[in-house]
Amino acid sequence: MTALTSLVYMSVAADDLTDDQLVAMLREARLRNHALGVSGLLLAKGGRFMQVLEGPVWSVEDRFAAIERDPRHTGVKSLSRESIATRRFDGWAMAFGSPTGDELRDEPGFSTFLSDRTGLPTGVAGTPADWLLRWFRGRDLQDLPEERITLGRHAA
Ligand SMILES: Cc1cc2nc3c(=O)[nH]c(=O)nc-3n(C[C@H](O)[C@H](O)[C@H](O)COP(=O)(O)O)c2cc1C
Repeated sequence: MTALTSLVYMSVAADDLTDDQLVAMLREARLRNHALGVSGLLLAKGGRFMQVLEGPVWSVEDRFAAIERDPRHTGVKSLSRESIATRRFDGWAMAFGSPTGDELRDEPGFSTFLSDRTGLPTGVAGTPADWLLRWFRGRDLQDLPEERITLGRHAA
């Protein structure tokens, strides 16, 4: 059986990305992720990103290395890395959520987790990803200085 991993990171958007730029990024990400067997969820809010990447270890690490180098964001910090037995975001080639999402609702993969406070896939309940995504949704991140964002004991 292929070893699966789940990685969660957070980062700071370099500029205010327009909805069009976000959609272009999402489409690109979904294509590559699908090809590589990576699934997950990308949230954008208050000038910050949080993303869950899950799949075979090598493809998650390959995507994460590419993402870390991307100039569209800075301060990429991994918050959790777990070995997982089964996928939790099966079929989510990369779901994407933003607080209003008005322009994005019709986009394949749009997630209403932030805009309508809908739930996550059932397999996520009680995992670090669950906790981190809910934290990101509940927290007012706008204008929060980077150093004020602390997430408990150890970053992965
Ligand atoms: C916040 C953010 C999330 C991204 N998520 C993904 C992703 O899930 N999958 C992906 O292939 N690229 C994603 N990208 C784009 C990558 O950073 C990178 O531009 C792309 O994978 C091409 O890199 P490569 O040519 O080195 O493979 C993301 C970029 C940003 C800024």
